[in-house]
Amino acid sequence: MRLDKFLANENIGSRKEVGVLVRSGAVTVNGQAVKKADLQIDPERDTICVNGRAIQYNRYVYLLMNKPAGVLTATRDNRTKTVLDLVPETLRRKDLFPAGRLDKDTTGMLILTDDGDFAHRMLAPKSHVLKRYEAVLDLPVEAADIRRFAEGIQSGEDLFAPALLEIDPEDPHRAWVEIREGKFHQVKRMFLACGKTVTALRRLSIGALVLEETLPAGAVRVMTPEEAGLVFQKAKPQNND
Ligand code: URA
Repeated sequence: MRLDKFLANENIGSRKEVGVLVRSGAVTVNGQAVKKADLQIDPERDTICVNGRAIQYNRYVYLLMNKPAGVLTATRDNRTKTVLDLVPETLRRKDLFPAGRLDKDTTGMLILTDDGDFAHRMLAPKSHVLKRYEAVLDLPVEAADIRRFAEGIQSGEDLFAPALLEIDPEDPHRAWVEIREGKFHQVKRMFLACGKTVTALRRLSIGALVLEETLPAGAVRVMTPEEAGLVFQKAKPQNND
């Protein structure tokens, strides 16, 4: 791998910025000062330091996005802005893609990665990763809907597995849903089968990883390896605020 690519991948700066940094003599490879940004390095074996600080090599990147409405969950589209378009230049990697899908009008937690195995594991039905959503409905949600969700719902050709539904005690037009699958328009179709239309949908968590309130809509940040691991852990009971 080229030295400047490695440094940019590890968020030291843009390709251009790290080039300047290397030429300034701030970067060493195995203790030797280097001046060539296109130097070939082996990130698994070589020790790269910037101003004396060793840079850890992360083979894959895991990004957390607070997806805004109006953006497609796709890598590229000729007409509409995609979630990839929202990723800042410094965080982009060649094979980055969204792990799972949110509808264009759905907001909230979305993970982007270049780790295909991670995404596959997260999305595989046998992994049983729980996704929690907050839904706003056109009509009040009723106790009968909780029972229908708990039993599983047939919608056309699809059978949706049993899901948890909680009604907001202060506003029955608002509810929380937990599903393990990720079928096309699943939450909307489950409510539709109960005669209700979802007017707003937001994903709050995946596994034990909860989207923080402080990440603004459209913002993206790097997840720590520990956070990536939380996706496969069981969520603690949630506080419905
Ligand atoms: N269920 C839906 O209906 N839409 C989403 O975007 C996610 C889950």
